[in-house]
Amino acid sequence: MKTDLLITGVAQLVTAEGAEAKRGRAMSALKIIDDAAMAVLDGHIAWVGRASEWTGEAAATVDVGGAAVVPGLIDPHTHAVWAGDRLSDFEARAAGATYEEILAGGGGIRSTVRATAAATREELVALAKVRINALTRSGATTIEVKSGYGFSMAAEIAMLEAIERLAEDSAAQIVATLLVHIPPADVTERREYVEQVCGDLIPVVARRGLASAVDVFVERDAWHVDEAEEILACAKQHGLGIKLHSDQFHSVGGVELGVRLGALSVDHLEAAGETQIALLAGNTTVATILPGVSLHLGIPAAPGRKLIDAGAAVAVGTDLNPGSSPLYSSAAALALAVRMNGLTAQEALVAGTVNAARALGLNDQGRLEAGCAADFLVLDSGDWRDLVYRMGASPVREVWVGGRKVGA
Ligand code: NIG
Ligand code: FE
Repeated sequence: MKTDLLITGVAQLVTAEGAEAKRGRAMSALKIIDDAAMAVLDGHIAWVGRASEWTGEAAATVDVGGAAVVPGLIDPHTHAVWAGDRLSDFEARAAGATYEEILAGGGGIRSTVRATAAATREELVALAKVRINALTRSGATTIEVKSGYGFSMAAEIAMLEAIERLAEDSAAQIVATLLVHIPPADVTERREYVEQVCGDLIPVVARRGLASAVDVFVERDAWHVDEAEEILACAKQHGLGIKLHSDQFHSVGGVELGVRLGALSVDHLEAAGETQIALLAGNTTVATILPGVSLHLGIPAAPGRKLIDAGAAVAVGTDLNPGSSPLYSSAAALALAVRMNGLTAQEALVAGTVNAARALGLNDQGRLEAGCAADFLVLDSGDWRDLVYRMGASPVREVWVGGRKVGA
């Protein structure tokens, strides 16, 4: 076998078991190869195994000097494009106001919508680039980015165009999602908004390939289940994947809807109970949990342990956004999932790689095996568990995307 590159000196090469992931098993086991090597050809992994078993040729060799190598992380849920800040919300919450009270009073997400509307596309791209670089440095090689601070059809398109621009010069792969976030306050306008989303926005987004999925925030103070069903059914008709922000503060039927419509994932789940856990355990919809939100807002942690014990596929993301989760590290999200949601270190890595890929409908990312993208991390440690153990200083020494070392 003739390849472009051979990575050697790998003390541990860690990956989720591919065969299990392909069978759709909820939580794959981890495979750890000691004294490993990995060969790369055309940006993809050509061979992985014990170094002593390599018999091919490589145009170049990189010796990582006894480091652990893990798959590049997939961050399946971010709102990385926004303008303005939510520092006054942060102060108000510290003084006792809740996130929901601030939102109901016209602030919170609505204040970010106003600031985002006032920014130019160039400003939005420049602001988001810094955040995407931080996530990449933390280990994310694929990052989902949502719109949702637009609040008009034109503004949502502008956000998606900013994400498209961001994707053009990001080292990490960017996956765009159209988020239908917050409804207008007026009932008539609310109805018109749904009609515009289904009649104008989704068809344009699908035709121009501006997003691969549509997400709806289902909550007492956001969209209701019947409205979300209309929007998501329309997204499906246009060949787009579907996702929901669901059960963040109240369990109002979002999980039930997502499972019934075959959503790629339902995300948040801090308020999910036994019924929702059982539903997710019996279906292929991924349960994406976002521990940064529980930490930042002081709300209950999503029942990660119970979801996994019941048989659900759990993924973890940062939910990077200014209001509920200013968490700029995808590796830290995994570290928090171990502390706050009861995942084991092994489960956290599966949740942040192969299951996060599933939550985005991606098949050849999140694993280190022949045929997959050569997206991987070289740690500054010989033990991969440092990735989810350390807090506050990153154990990620190098980030490689498509077989190239990136400097973010
Ligand atoms: O995932 N809760 C809904 N949406 C976002 C927060 C957005 C914001 O507060 O700006 C979330 O938590
Ligand atoms: Fe979110």
